[in-house]
Amino acid sequence: MKKALSKLHEKKDLAHQGGGSHRIQHQHEKGKLTARERIEVLLDKNSFEELGMLVTHRSVDFGMDQEKYYGDGVITGYGTINNRPVYVFSQDFTVFGGSLSEAHAEKICKIMDLAMANGIPVIGLNDSGGARIQEGVVSLGGYADIFYRNTIASGIIPQISAIMGPCAGGAVYSPAITDLVFMVDHTSYMFVTGPNVVKTVTNESISSEELGGAVTHATQSGVAHLVAENDVECLMAIRNVLSYLPQNNKLTTPVLPCHLGTRELRPELNDIIPDNPQHPYDMKTVIEGIIDRDSFFELHANYAPNIVIGFARIGGRSVGIVANQPAHLAGVLDVNSSKKGARFVRFCDAFNIPLLVLVDVPGFLPGKDQEWNAIITNGAKLLYSFCEATVPRITVITRKAYGGAYDVMNSKHIGADFNYAWPSAEIAVMGAKGASEIIFRKEIAAADKPDEKLREMEQLYAAKFANPYLAAERGYVDEIIEPEITREKLLRSFAILQTKRKSPPTKKHGNIPL
Ligand code: HXC
Repeated sequence: MKKALSKLHEKKDLAHQGGGSHRIQHQHEKGKLTARERIEVLLDKNSFEELGMLVTHRSVDFGMDQEKYYGDGVITGYGTINNRPVYVFSQDFTVFGGSLSEAHAEKICKIMDLAMANGIPVIGLNDSGGARIQEGVVSLGGYADIFYRNTIASGIIPQISAIMGPCAGGAVYSPAITDLVFMVDHTSYMFVTGPNVVKTVTNESISSEELGGAVTHATQSGVAHLVAENDVECLMAIRNVLSYLPQNNKLTTPVLPCHLGTRELRPELNDIIPDNPQHPYDMKTVIEGIIDRDSFFELHANYAPNIVIGFARIGGRSVGIVANQPAHLAGVLDVNSSKKGARFVRFCDAFNIPLLVLVDVPGFLPGKDQEWNAIITNGAKLLYSFCEATVPRITVITRKAYGGAYDVMNSKHIGADFNYAWPSAEIAVMGAKGASEIIFRKEIAAADKPDEKLREMEQLYAAKFANPYLAAERGYVDEIIEPEITREKLLRSFAILQTKRKSPPTKKHGNIPL
């Protein structure tokens, strides 16, 4: 037995050495943790159970039969995060650059299948040079096996991708299908084709960072939901975000302890809306005034900032927040903000996370750029996502709710459960100036002083329509509330909606305007 044990330990030691000490040192020099160190940081202490430690590749071409490493470039297994189980794979860049071979893909597929069968989230830590070049089509097949599982698992178990190194070629499509993509600044890259191919095909010179670095994807493409300063920060963000999510689509979200006062007034909310309706304010101040202290986990903070999305807790329970941001482009809805909001609404709906929608929106952004980039189709995505969401849904209109954007932003008509408005709300077809210019065109043209006449008609229109009372008379708004009682109102409203049961009609799937 002694001999057998020592053989086992020798093999395990070798597996722990990955691609060797010089490659590990190189990894550290780049500011990156190794695949195993990342798992240690991500999971609860001593909770990791490894599967497939001794797997090797079966490739023989190009001298590959002479070069084998236990694990074959990916460490897979399960463990816990805050005592809840997760499956994890962590690509080991020190072994063939973390490239994906047939055996490497099989290991990832194995834990994905287990995660699906047991309703447990999957976390992928990506650090890979893409398809194992020595294996050709076999590695392409391995990628496709993973893409297929990502897609089938979508909406059933949460899937989170951390990009912690290169992620090139087809490798980007697995993270793209998952629910969340977190990137590490300066050490991670995602692109379908790298700078060299770009130069050859388009003659464009561009750095990896500019083409597909973390900041690029967090601000320009919207591929990345979050940028972390370093590996540890990224892994901590994953731990944190999981605390808002259920284990799978059949379960509810965790409830964290929350000490509620007898009254939950937040008087500071009464002073947020400026007297001048043209002046901006920061919707994040409203969010902070409503939620459990410091519970906001923002996603896509620097992409389409005219809409704010993220998870928070109210009374210890998770909610997904979608809020117009008047501090950026007046909170207008455009192509990118519509796409950003729509995907988040569907994520929340798939995983039983109630939605809180805060509205201050002057309408959709006009212009050729928007029309040519299909604001029609993209705006419809947000509309469609709200329409089909069956989770508890509450809207608070803080100020403007104009035009089609009123309808889209979780209005009563498209299935919101409770709709509240602050007294500062303006709910109308369009702003008073634009409306007056159209409907009083003749009177204004005939007036001695057209400017004065316009202002007079504007005031008339605003007095009649730029308020929440007509909507309240119709029941489109359930109650007009003092801002300071918003948190208390939401605590009660979300509590009564906890037993909401609504199922969509049976169908294969809808045809969302993609
Ligand atoms: C096999 C690879 C590899 C790969 C890197 N290595 N990528 N081995 N297959 N795809 C190996 C290197 O030979 C090297 O081995 C080690 O990993 C580290 O690589 P370096 O180049 O030294 O590291 P670095 O300078 O940091 O550059 C990293 C890199 C670069 C940017 C990822 O290696 C690179 O460009 N690799 C190729 C990327 C690529 O084109 N992949 C295919 C994409 S197409 P040693 O022994 O020296 O340590 C694709 C199709 C999938 O993925 C389609 C699915 C549908």
